[in-house]
Amino acid sequence: MFRKKNIHEFDLHGKRVLLRADYNVPLEKDGSVASSYRIEQSLPTISALQEKGCQIVIISHLGRPKGPDDKSCSLKPIARELSKLLNQSVLFVPECVGDSVKRATADMQAGDIVMLENVRFHPEEEKNDESFAKAIIESTGAEVFVQDGFGVVHRAHATTDAIARQIPAVAGLLLEHEVDTITRVMSEPAHPLMAIIGGAKIADKIDIIHKFLDTADIVVIGGAMANTFLKAQGVEVGDSLVDDEELDTAHDIMNKVRRVSKERNFVFYLPQDGVVATKLDKQTETRIVDWDAQVIADIEAYPRRPKAEASHVRDREKILDIGPFSGAFIAGAAQMVNTVVWNGTMGVTEVSAVHGPVGPFSHGTELVIDALVGKYGHRPFSLLGGGDTAGYVEERGMNDMFNHVSTGGGASLELMAGRDLPGVSVLWDKDS
Ligand code: 3PG
Repeated sequence: MFRKKNIHEFDLHGKRVLLRADYNVPLEKDGSVASSYRIEQSLPTISALQEKGCQIVIISHLGRPKGPDDKSCSLKPIARELSKLLNQSVLFVPECVGDSVKRATADMQAGDIVMLENVRFHPEEEKNDESFAKAIIESTGAEVFVQDGFGVVHRAHATTDAIARQIPAVAGLLLEHEVDTITRVMSEPAHPLMAIIGGAKIADKIDIIHKFLDTADIVVIGGAMANTFLKAQGVEVGDSLVDDEELDTAHDIMNKVRRVSKERNFVFYLPQDGVVATKLDKQTETRIVDWDAQVIADIEAYPRRPKAEASHVRDREKILDIGPFSGAFIAGAAQMVNTVVWNGTMGVTEVSAVHGPVGPFSHGTELVIDALVGKYGHRPFSLLGGGDTAGYVEERGMNDMFNHVSTGGGASLELMAGRDLPGVSVLWDKDS
């Protein structure tokens, strides 16, 4: 259970509230918002605060700006998008401390919304600087701090940590929902539990891989991370992205897999085939390499023996997606479980398609989506970690088809791994 006070458990009526959101959203080249999922998910908290007659001053970061003049990281387009979504004016202030903020917030009325400029334009933000946090509070006249930026609570920064130590600090509804849902799925999942883990680097996911080796019934590895495991197993992966420094880690994980498989019913699945190409380009020629099952190679070549290259990635080729055999295996396994936690796409979903909505290296990811949303009959409870997985399903307009699509990337991984989130720990406890 979520142990922090939420906005309904503290008297906020008529108060000036400092709302920390995570509006670190992708932008188009022209500066407009490419994905408004994080903004939309913050609306229930904003509306609830407005119903309490609060004046709302929103702070957030966006990207990792190179300095205060890095206009590509300005929150101005986000203020415009929020205003559109709420159908209400949102006053944007091109600073987050000082006189211009004081002037903009001085005459705020109940329900008014002011959005301040990117807090990361000040290096003090990432240094968790107390005086900077104090300056934001003083400039805005905030009486209460509401943390609703789930995606950033794994960082101990001035607007996630220091600020919450200076005035009453409670949780927004999105933060509460995220922490509650992810914690419940991790601590008391409806078994069988399947974890599908993709992405590029083992190092980023090592903690949750270990966590799922302890708790899940099926663990599937996809994405570029699988290449490192395959290489460690002696599969030739050509020019594929491989984390050579993590080959030992992959060996250690495989040793643990062998131990766990002896102790209980447990499946660990590495892709048996893949889609390969020499270039990351939507026009590029692709082929399927069937390095393990060799079923596809056999069928295609029958009655002759398949050519060696049908089961070997050539030197200049890269594995860019899981193959159809692996996709079908994963989709089939998902039909036999009650819970799926999915973090990381199966292939390079950023490459768009020449025709249709599905890119050349997105078919594996699409098969997983089909299986999770019930295309084959069974629909397991689905929890999707943020980052590229959430980005892809949002692009496909499918967020609503899953049980929970997290707004957090790093934050959801750390929470799943059981780590403490400083931006949550610092909030007031329910019984305080
Ligand atoms: C995210 O997008 O994961 C959060 O906004 C945190 O951003 P950061 O990794 O730049 O701290």
